[in-house]
Amino acid sequence: MKHFLKETDLRHPALAEVFALARELKQKRGRHTPPVLAGQTWAMIFSKSSTRTRVSFEVGIHELGGNPLFLNRNDIQLGRGESIEDTARVLSRFVHGLIVRTYDHNDVERLAAAGTIPVINALTDFLHPCQIYTDAFTAAERWAAPGGDLLDSLKGRKIAFLGDTACNMANSWILGANLLGMNISLAGPKGFEPGVEVQAVLAKEGWTGRYHFTSDPYEAVAGADIVYTDVWVSMGKEEETKERIRLMAPYAVTGKLFAAAKPDALFLHCLPAHPGEEVMQEVLDNPRCIIFDQAENRLHMQKAIMAVLAQRPRA
Ligand code: CP
Ligand code: NVA
Repeated sequence: MKHFLKETDLRHPALAEVFALARELKQKRGRHTPPVLAGQTWAMIFSKSSTRTRVSFEVGIHELGGNPLFLNRNDIQLGRGESIEDTARVLSRFVHGLIVRTYDHNDVERLAAAGTIPVINALTDFLHPCQIYTDAFTAAERWAAPGGDLLDSLKGRKIAFLGDTACNMANSWILGANLLGMNISLAGPKGFEPGVEVQAVLAKEGWTGRYHFTSDPYEAVAGADIVYTDVWVSMGKEEETKERIRLMAPYAVTGKLFAAAKPDALFLHCLPAHPGEEVMQEVLDNPRCIIFDQAENRLHMQKAIMAVLAQRPRA
């Protein structure tokens, strides 16, 4: 059983297959989408808000010939204390795949371990792997020659991640950069260094120390091909809003900071954005800001991921 819970769950050749398939599905959208999920229902259990992830998965499942089943955590017995393991066992009898957005990353690991169907992490407090694959694909679309190798175009590139350097997006980009042969420099306040969970995955992969952390945003963006930021207050951290805004203010992506990266650097943000906080409107208006291509590509990338993970439909 293949799951997609973290960036490193797909390796060559599946990794290359997913990127190539995302490009093909994007090019052929509306003309020829193979119905690889025909006869299948994929359930989506969400414990947090979502615009892009929910809509792109629901549309993507539909476009692959399947049926999406959205389940708010509080509408099912999981929200009243039924165990994660029993939920996984029961849903495995009904549906063909599970897409989960929740708080504790351990919960998606437990669902995957107890069930018999593929599980996709649609964001936890720890990681957001669908977003990282999409982000890398979006940059590679710009960098690869027409029909050229997408993954090759990422190798040796540098990403600078600014702001909340201890959040799910920062963790995921540390893993993604290492997986894809990119360099990553993170700039954030003291106390927001990458945490023990991400260090543990790096150690397991033999990638210990393969990132650069600084408190100087200009040091991080020097020579960067991608300047990336995320909200300063992730879902679940609302009580810390005031303090985070104070601490992270020096890491806002201003026009001046963006200009200190490579002259052709791209600006990316997973969205939702808070203009005037982590990024200034002048950067969002820059033609090298590709956030809406990024958002669209969630659809194509996640279709490719589901197509690679899907098992044959039950009779
Ligand atoms: N980027 C992202 O995952 O957006 P949503 O929270 O809207 O799904
Ligand atoms: N770090 C953000 C990402 C939202 C897509 C959060 O977890 O809220």
